[in-house]
Amino acid sequence: MSDTLSPDAGAAFDHAAEDWLAWQRSPWARVYYALVRHVLDQLPEASATWNVLDVGGANGADSLPLLASGHRVTILDGSAVLLAEAVAAADRDGLDRGRLRVERVDLDDPRPLPVPDHSTGWDLVLCHNVLHYRDDPAELVARLVAAARPGGTLSLIAPNPAMDVLAAAIRDRDPVRGLEMLDAPTRRSETVGVPMRRLERAAVTTAVQAAGAAVTASLGLRTVIDLVSDDEVKHDPEWLRRTTQLELALCSRAPYRDIARFWQLICRTPA
Ligand SMILES: C[S@@+](CC[C@H](N)C(=O)[O-])C[C@H]1O[C@@H](n2cnc3c(N)ncnc32)[C@H](O)[C@@H]1O
Repeated sequence: MSDTLSPDAGAAFDHAAEDWLAWQRSPWARVYYALVRHVLDQLPEASATWNVLDVGGANGADSLPLLASGHRVTILDGSAVLLAEAVAAADRDGLDRGRLRVERVDLDDPRPLPVPDHSTGWDLVLCHNVLHYRDDPAELVARLVAAARPGGTLSLIAPNPAMDVLAAAIRDRDPVRGLEMLDAPTRRSETVGVPMRRLERAAVTTAVQAAGAAVTASLGLRTVIDLVSDDEVKHDPEWLRRTTQLELALCSRAPYRDIARFWQLICRTPA
């Protein structure tokens, strides 16, 4: 398997936008976004109105709920199609467009990320499911930390390599694939068709610390639903509701969080 990542993930997402938006409507994606929302809702209030930067925020599935709660949100992404979806979703939901900014950016451009006018940085920086597309994830981590204000918060999420092995062997009943995944440096995104780095939580923890921030919470999102082979049951609303409850209880507890589909780090910059 090649270790070379896509040179233009933004364009790849433009191309695959329809399939990716369809994935977001799947039961397993809905569980994922419910878990993200649960974690973000529990962050200590920094101020009545946060300035939130969502890097690689696509159609704003994580940050539009924050807009709905009264915060100011800026979404940066390389996909014009997904950014247009974010604006359309805000309009559809009657959200305050004056508090939403979207900007098409190329994260390969090494310039510092923007900060809000007349401020020392963002109160909250999200970077969810982007770092594993980067050739040098630590370089982007350093720019994310630099963009947060002193005492600001970051939320970083990426797919957890452990679940690649477990899902192949258990859900897909394919132990050969499980063994192949164990030491594979990359895997291919089923929806977008680009290679993704198998990025360990520990590597990003090291990058966060090297950039001068601290990890204050370590979570895992979706521990059980990815191990269930029967996709049909996942469309049963009552099963999904109970499974979501279980996932909410597991997301902050070891060892469950350690094998979940996604790892999440909550980080804090020095005050
Ligand atoms: C898997 S999606 C995640 C979207 C959102 N954060 C979420 O979790 O729902 C990755 C996003 O990162 C963006 N992206 C990846 N590489 C990029 C790059 N080099 N420049 C700009 N955007 C990029 C893609 O366009 C896409 O919208």
